[in-house]
Amino acid sequence: MHWTTSTLVALAFASPISALIRFQCSQLVVERLDPLVTPGQVPSPHVHQIVGGNSFNATMAPSKDMPGESTCTTCQFSEDFSNYWTAILYFRARNGTYKRVPQRSNAGFDGTTGGGMTVYYMTDPLYDSQPKSKVSAFKPGFRMFVGDINARTKEQAARFRQLTYTCMENAGSREHEVVHFPQKPCSYGIMTSVRFPTCWDGVNLDSPDHMAHMSYPESGTFESAGPCPSTHPVRVSQVLFEVIWDTSKFNDPADWPEDGSQPFVWSFGDPTGYANHADYVFGWKDDSLQKILDTSCYATSCGGKQQSIAEMNKCAGLKKTVDEDIGEDTWLTQLPGGHAAE
Ligand SMILES: *[C@@H]1O[C@H](CO)[C@@H](O)[C@H](O)[C@H]1NC(C)=O
Ligand SMILES: *[C@@H]1O[C@H](CO)[C@@H](O)[C@H](O)[C@H]1NC(C)=O
Repeated sequence: MHWTTSTLVALAFASPISALIRFQCSQLVVERLDPLVTPGQVPSPHVHQIVGGNSFNATMAPSKDMPGESTCTTCQFSEDFSNYWTAILYFRARNGTYKRVPQRSNAGFDGTTGGGMTVYYMTDPLYDSQPKSKVSAFKPGFRMFVGDINARTKEQAARFRQLTYTCMENAGSREHEVVHFPQKPCSYGIMTSVRFPTCWDGVNLDSPDHMAHMSYPESGTFESAGPCPSTHPVRVSQVLFEVIWDTSKFNDPADWPEDGSQPFVWSFGDPTGYANHADYVFGWKDDSLQKILDTSCYATSCGGKQQSIAEMNKCAGLKKTVDEDIGEDTWLTQLPGGHAAE
C-alpha cells in the first residue's frame, strides 16, 4: 500500500466510470461518547473525535432516523448526516503527564474546525480501471466498527488489513504506511488511515462485535479487486477515513522518552498504535449516496448537494454531554477515563 496523491488522482482519472468521493468534515465534538460500542453509556470509556450529523448522541438506536433528526452536518456533502469517529491522540511527556495532540486539515481544506477528517467512498479498486460491479450504498441503520482496541502486537493487528500510519514530512506525504506508530519524529504530523471491510452479509445492519456482518474480500484487498466471500456477497464501497495529527509541537528529542521509544498514545492507552480503530454510522439522506456511487466522478466534483467550509463549521461545536478536561490546554496526570499508557 504505497499510494501517493498523484497516483491516486492519475488512477482515478484513468478510470472514467468510477466514483471516488473524497471530502472533508469539520469536527462536530470531542468527548467521551460511543453510541456504537457502549450505547447509552455516559461517559464512554475513552475520548473520541466525531464528525458528521448533529443528531449524534450517546444512544443512537439503529431504528433512529438520523437524517430526519439532524438539522445540519459538519461534512461537505450536506446530505451526509452520517457520523464518523476515531479515538484521539495524546503526547506523553517525560514526567508522565499527557496532552492532546491537535488535528489539522488535509491539504486544500484549510479552515476546517478542529482539523476534522477526510472521508472517502470508493467504488473501484484503484489499481484496476475496470470496475467489477456496482457497489451498494449502505442501508438506513447500518453501522460498523473496524480494529481491536486490545491489540498491542503486530500479530494481533494482522487480522486487519489496512489500518495504517503515515509519517508526514509535509502536507503531501503519503508514502510508507505502517501499522504501528512511527518511531521517529514526523515534522508535519502523523496521518492515520482507516479502511473498512468492503463485503457485507446483505442482511444485518449491525452485529454484536459490530464487525461480523462485514468481511474483507476472500483474498487481497478492495484495491486489488479480491472477490467477496459467499458469506458476505454484497460489495459495498470502500469507506476510508484520514485524520492528521499535528505532532509538530512535540518533536523535540529532549521531550521524547529516554529509552528511545516514541511518546504518542491513543486515548484508550495504546502506546503501540496496533489498536488503531474507527466507527461508522451511516446517515446519508434517502438514496443520495447511491446516486453518486452510480456516477463517474472524482473527489468533490462528485455532485450531490455540497456546502462551503464556513457552512460546515457552523454545524461544528455540538454542546458536550460530558463536561471534563480532555487535556487540550493542560497536562493531565491520567488519560480521561483513567487510562494510562499500556
Ligand atoms: C438521543 O436522541 C434520541 C432521539 O432524539 C433520543 O430519543 C434519546 O433520548 C437521546 N439520547 C440521549 C442519551 O440523549
Ligand atoms: C510535565 O511536562 C510538561 C512538558 O514538558 C510540562 O509542561 C509540565 O509542566 C510538567 N508537569 C509537571 C507537574 O512537572
